[in-house]
Amino acid sequence: MSRLAARRILLGITGGIAAYKCCELVRQLRREGAEVQVLMTPAAAAFVTPLSLQAVSGRPVRTDLLDPSAEAAMGHIELARWGEVLLVAPASADALARLAQGHANDLLSTCYLAFDGPKFLAPAMNQAMWRAPATGRNVAQLEADGATVLGPASGSQACGDEGPGRMIEPADLVQALEAWATARGDSSPSPWAGRHVVITAGPTREALDPVRYLTNKSSGQQGFALAEAAVAAGARVTLITGPVSLPTPAGVTRIDVEAAQDMLTAAEAACADADLCVAVAAVADYRVAEVATQKLKRQDGVPLTLTLVPNPDIIATLAAQRGSRARPVLVAFAAETENVLAHARSKRSKKGVDFVVANDVSRADIGFNSEENCVTVLGPSGETALPKMSKRALSTQLLQEFASALTP
Ligand SMILES: Cc1cc2nc3c(=O)[nH]c(=O)nc-3n(C[C@H](O)[C@H](O)[C@H](O)COP(=O)(O)O)c2cc1C
Repeated sequence: MSRLAARRILLGITGGIAAYKCCELVRQLRREGAEVQVLMTPAAAAFVTPLSLQAVSGRPVRTDLLDPSAEAAMGHIELARWGEVLLVAPASADALARLAQGHANDLLSTCYLAFDGPKFLAPAMNQAMWRAPATGRNVAQLEADGATVLGPASGSQACGDEGPGRMIEPADLVQALEAWATARGDSSPSPWAGRHVVITAGPTREALDPVRYLTNKSSGQQGFALAEAAVAAGARVTLITGPVSLPTPAGVTRIDVEAAQDMLTAAEAACADADLCVAVAAVADYRVAEVATQKLKRQDGVPLTLTLVPNPDIIATLAAQRGSRARPVLVAFAAETENVLAHARSKRSKKGVDFVVANDVSRADIGFNSEENCVTVLGPSGETALPKMSKRALSTQLLQEFASALTP
């Protein structure tokens, strides 16, 4: 497993021509399993779009310090706390000056000032700007304050000059971060490295006839976010999903199903060697007793009565099959609209699972079809109420909670 697997990297991009290389840099870091949160200065956004970087990083890019909605999701101080390492690449001459002075007048400089971990700077500028005494003073100050300066390289420049000032290549930046991760002597590699994680996601579809079905409002976002976080943490991930319109996260094995029965069959097979199974899917509790072979005809004035029979309870079935064995750790999601915690507590004991993640789906700002969630985790060692956050950030936290139940 790569040393960068599951490492949380803050990447600050400033306004230089080398910003175009950052998409490749992010791709390489993600290939190593790192999580990358991109912060861009407004000038950087003139060279490369936040949309491109969002697509390659898989996370919303942050550009604005004074954006109330972004700040409510993950504030600048929270961002600084989230990162384990901060890399500014390319670092413009102006950014070096601001950072050396301790400015906090944009998101990047504010995070840089608030960040209390290892800082790397990859300067990129015209050779005369790099040789300017002011730049030299700023770089010396930043190094004296503890930052590591990577490069710049020498060679031909976009402006036609020759000399020092080129940003070092993405592969070299990745190598520098790998060296940091190795030097960090991480004695506790990700607990998910090499583990098999099975996740069910999305709604199920229970056919009534060849064209109609019963379903629910689940978007699949939470399950997909969890799958992405588990891959980033170094796990092998099988994602069993009902019909959703979400792209498959990189590195995930996806199995598409429709009805609850099919989801159970796929989950049973995948769980044979699983270390963790998280049932995030909103599985239909009932299906029709008999699916009509032909389209049901409308009969004016005559009510239609459907006879519904219970579907299998997937996570409870897996728990019964597991018996007294320790693997896989089993997690049920409890989407409730009332008495959320009381229902979740009884669900945990009735189903025989290790954890229940309870969320209140009556709230419009979280849960179904929302990018955010706010849950309470009920586990073997008590209950933890987590604050509202993005489903992706929540997924990383949930994996930390579930890791406590893994056997060696
Ligand atoms: C076409 C173009 C290319 C530029 N390239 C660089 C560069 O490579 N390095 C640099 O330090 N500044 C460069 N600049 C100037 C910066 O964009 C400018 O100093 C800006 O204020 C930097 O803002 P930031 O540090 O907040 O991102 C360039 C400007 C233009 C118009």
